[in-house]
Amino acid sequence: MINDKLPKIWYGGDYNPEQWGPDVWKEDERMFKLAGIDVATVNVFSWALNQPSEETYDFSLLDETIDRLYKCGVHVCLATSTGAHPAWMARKYPDVLRVDVQGRKRRFGGRHNSCPNSPTYRKYSARLAGKLAERYKDHPGLLIWHISNEYGGYCYCDNCAAAFRVWLRERYATLDELNRAWNTRFWGHTFYDWEEIVVPNELSEEWNGNRTNFQGISLDYRRFQSQSLLECYKLEYDEIKKHTPNVPITTNLMGLYPELDYFEWAKYMDIVSWDNYPSLDTPVSLTAMTHDLMRGLKSGLPFMLMEQTPSQQNWQAYNSLKRPGVMRLWSYQAMAHGADTVLFFQLRRSIGACEKYHGAVIEHVGHEHTRVFREVAELGRELEQLGDTLLDARTEAKVALVYDWENRWATELSSGPTVALNYAGEVHKYYDALFKIHVESDMVSVEEDFGKYEIVIAPVMYMVKPGFAKKVEEFVANGGTFVTTFFSGIVDENDLVTTGGYPGELRSVLGIWAEEIDALFPGHMNQIVLKQSWGALSDQYECGLLCDLIHAEGAEVLAEYGSDFYQGMPAVTVNRFGKGRAYYVATSPEPSFLQGFLKNLCDEQGVRPLLDAPAGVEAARRVKDGKSFLFLLNHNAEAAEVEIGSAGMKDLLANTRVSGTVEVPGRGVVILESSN
Ligand code: GLA
Ligand code: ZN
Repeated sequence: MINDKLPKIWYGGDYNPEQWGPDVWKEDERMFKLAGIDVATVNVFSWALNQPSEETYDFSLLDETIDRLYKCGVHVCLATSTGAHPAWMARKYPDVLRVDVQGRKRRFGGRHNSCPNSPTYRKYSARLAGKLAERYKDHPGLLIWHISNEYGGYCYCDNCAAAFRVWLRERYATLDELNRAWNTRFWGHTFYDWEEIVVPNELSEEWNGNRTNFQGISLDYRRFQSQSLLECYKLEYDEIKKHTPNVPITTNLMGLYPELDYFEWAKYMDIVSWDNYPSLDTPVSLTAMTHDLMRGLKSGLPFMLMEQTPSQQNWQAYNSLKRPGVMRLWSYQAMAHGADTVLFFQLRRSIGACEKYHGAVIEHVGHEHTRVFREVAELGRELEQLGDTLLDARTEAKVALVYDWENRWATELSSGPTVALNYAGEVHKYYDALFKIHVESDMVSVEEDFGKYEIVIAPVMYMVKPGFAKKVEEFVANGGTFVTTFFSGIVDENDLVTTGGYPGELRSVLGIWAEEIDALFPGHMNQIVLKQSWGALSDQYECGLLCDLIHAEGAEVLAEYGSDFYQGMPAVTVNRFGKGRAYYVATSPEPSFLQGFLKNLCDEQGVRPLLDAPAGVEAARRVKDGKSFLFLLNHNAEAAEVEIGSAGMKDLLANTRVSGTVEVPGRGVVILESSN
């Protein structure tokens, strides 16, 4: 349990009373009660109020807020406010201001705007966190700490450059080693002095966000900035722990956000939390995958849904309303995948600046007679009724998908063979296929223990880090099924190619050699032609993006390319290795291929789907104390019928016994409880 002071799914969200006054606060209290809200995330952007000048701190408004909320039954998720520095600080200490990728020194403005290597920022952010912790350590309303907000964005200032050089010395020890790792003899880039190294921004090696002349330095700069920001988080974390060793600490992550290596970050978080903002056209399986990734950051521990909008965003191009029922549906989707909280941004809509058109529990009209408020209040009642039933429940997947931030950086920085390769998109294709055949999966890091899985899928495993290939070999030798794809096993952790034939270190477990890689133009397709009929698959499928031209070296060829000069060369292979099998999918197939292919693999390994359900109905399961909670989430607008078998189960929300056919209303949810 996150904190046993409140043993239920926490319900509430970001609350900014500092933008209002006492009359409105009273109304807030009344409406929070009506909505069943019991948690408010406060003090997220209040540094300027908490510290009006360098010498003075003022927590009077915060004191009042926390007391007031506690009196009306609302606990706080207490933020440290360091996501945006005060204007006086920017004026007095310009080192807090970032330099952007184009080399421009920023002025005061915006948020998430502090240089992570600024001595001023580090000193005052840690100090503020410490002061807050000291002040509120014994407050009964304090549930959890929320450090800063949505860390992100890189800085390219001189302080960062100097710190980067120190970081590089630690990593490489000698310039010879650095020159080797970055392959600096290319274009005559050899460094003879550490001071010659500059940050790889658009004045140096990079352009267009992810194009670079030198992958080595660009990759290291991403590692370094991710760690620099993490360092800032850790400084605050340590200050807080001095005063409240037993209160959990988190910071809100952003799902697939590219810039920070969240697996590394999660090691220093007591619980993962994240902000979920799908748009109307985001595939529901992508949201599911992102929840699973957030759960995977701490090897399957429950996480917090820290933010979602009750109705609409303001920052997307087209900010559609969540259709009736969708807010509830997506809240349960989060819970189905491991969330133990349902929190919103924001509780009350602000009247000025850029978030005034962002959805909120309390809208500008100010009263409770709105569609959004009614839906929020209904969900509040349900969560109240669920109590602690689902808290801490886990997932027991037998299939894992590997996700790796450094690999993502490297594939996207790679400069060839195609600009169209989207790492997260390729992982999602595999996730989506499993999702559609209702097989549960975990999203795991390269460091995860593969032993607990029957099937491990690592799409586009371009970068193979030390020890990874051995780990895969062991997993397969012991009976596991491993799947990887085109553009895998190409480079080491410095983006240096492993010579001797692709897929490098993975070559022996896969039993193949990839001789060349063809990049296909958008709309240009090849075909995967099966050599003989195989389970759920038909004879032929479309494929595109990249086609590896491979030779079987011991692997059995399951399918071949259907056209072009490499027609007849292997497109899908399997290699028997020890007691297991290693599959190679040499190209990016159409979705229906992956559904059949993964169904076959699950059948081979005895991995059963959760159940069979109509298209658009998602199934997910959590387990706890010998009980299983099967979530049926109907993403269709129309009702759907799901066959659940003859053994009776409890419909948790309706509090009835059901068996046989269950009807799930359009955009509705059914949670079925049974004994394991
Ligand atoms: C982010 C931030 C919030 C708010 C929302 C709006 O998630 O953390 O402060 O800006 O976006 O969607
Ligand atoms: Zn900087």
